[in-house]
Amino acid sequence: MKITINGSEREVHADPWARLLDVLREDLRLTGTKEGCGEGECGACSVILDGEVVNSCLVAVGQCAGRAITTVEGLARGPEALHAVQRALVACGGAQCGICTPGIAVCAAHIVDTGQATSRDKIRQLLAGNICRCTGYQLIVDAVEQAAAEMTRK
Ligand code: FES
Ligand code: FES
Repeated sequence: MKITINGSEREVHADPWARLLDVLREDLRLTGTKEGCGEGECGACSVILDGEVVNSCLVAVGQCAGRAITTVEGLARGPEALHAVQRALVACGGAQCGICTPGIAVCAAHIVDTGQATSRDKIRQLLAGNICRCTGYQLIVDAVEQAAAEMTRK
């Protein structure tokens, strides 16, 4: 099947029932996407599928044929051009152990890019599916606000 991944069309040879998470990590070596719970509860495996954030542990790769996926590797425009959310997470100290961070970055980038970061409450609500055991969320919400403000200034 053909899947557009981070802007490039890829030919994927996999059991259509394989988890998208496993195909990304093991077949395509896109190991930025993490496995936390494996049950759709933590958001560590978040990717964007046709403009919607999904838990890749719950998606069969066959569901992705002909569609477009963005993983955390696709957020940056190059080593010197991290997404505003990634830069803000670094600047605000919004990452500690880092296991949640790729999923948070993907979800937060989607929130900012779609203009949904309209208030701290809204950001918290939209990030509710992404569990972080380390940061207490405050610094993550700070980072999303900072990134949204930067995008607005552009
Ligand atoms: Fe997919 Fe936790 S690993 S939601
Ligand atoms: Fe450790 Fe979020 S930084 S779980």
